[in-house]
Amino acid sequence: MAANPFDSQTAIPGVGRIIAVSSGKGGVGKSTVATNLAVSLARAGFKVGLLDADIYGPSLPRMSGTMHQKVELGDDKKLQPIERWKVKLMSIGFLVDEDLAVVWRGPMLFKAMDQFLREVNWGTLDYLLVDMPPGTGDIQLSLAQKVPVAGAVAVSTPQDVALADVKKAIDMWSRVSVPVIGVVENMSWFTPPGTTDRVQLFPKGGMDNYLRERGIAKLGEVPFNPKVAIGGEAGIPISESDPSAEESKAFAAIAAKIIEQVPASAGTTASATH
Ligand SMILES: Nc1ncnc2c1ncn2[C@@H]1O[C@H](COP(=O)(O)OP(=O)(O)OP(=O)(O)O)[C@@H](O)[C@H]1O
Ligand SMILES: [Mg+2]
Repeated sequence: MAANPFDSQTAIPGVGRIIAVSSGKGGVGKSTVATNLAVSLARAGFKVGLLDADIYGPSLPRMSGTMHQKVELGDDKKLQPIERWKVKLMSIGFLVDEDLAVVWRGPMLFKAMDQFLREVNWGTLDYLLVDMPPGTGDIQLSLAQKVPVAGAVAVSTPQDVALADVKKAIDMWSRVSVPVIGVVENMSWFTPPGTTDRVQLFPKGGMDNYLRERGIAKLGEVPFNPKVAIGGEAGIPISESDPSAEESKAFAAIAAKIIEQVPASAGTTASATH
């Protein structure tokens, strides 16, 4: 009988819940959502790590303002994550220059994922968020094979063309037995300055119906706000720079739902004060 590839799954010592932030579609805001959720979880008192698993297009160095910083090997021969906003960060961008392309085939990706999971000095974490690249490919598969993923958060924009990709992501996670925690709808609306209007940037599609039928939670809606994008460029997530902004509150509420659905495991939550 062929070996089950998921037999190689082993937990990372000290690391509690591993949560993937994903989407079948590019550019919907996975990295923005992952970064702001990491900050929100840290602000709720949890020990949090954020792994940028987008090997071909890492965005964490820019989003965290650590572009020219490179990680070092500690005495234990493990990579030292960079700490920002009380979150431990790791990205291939901390090893390779931003402008250089990473040209790797599948087996190299599997190896790289293994190193980022196990050869990083994560210490004790309640949550390790993994910002996935778009799509349903080798990196997603290798994460699910290597470590027990407690759940996946799918990110989408409201329109049907994005929903089609969310369906693919949900299908992929169910094939590798990772529970889907729910869907974050990003860029749901835009409120022009000086108004309280909610302008739809994208036509609203059948997302809510689909989620209801499938019994999948909608974790929240995050409005479009140029400040969110500016925060990403400036290296400070809005949840850190302006926690009282509507978008930051939306991220905090989504984080609370994640905590509820995937409670931090006992033994790693010593500092949690929520
Ligand atoms: N709610 C929002 N309001 C305004 N801008 C946003 C919002 N969410 C994301 N953005 C912006 O949209 C762009 C794409 O976001 P992001 O990089 O997070 O997407 P992604 O899904 O991770 O992309 P990729 O598929 O390339 O990894 C970025 O410029 C980001 O700042
Ligand atoms: Mg991204």
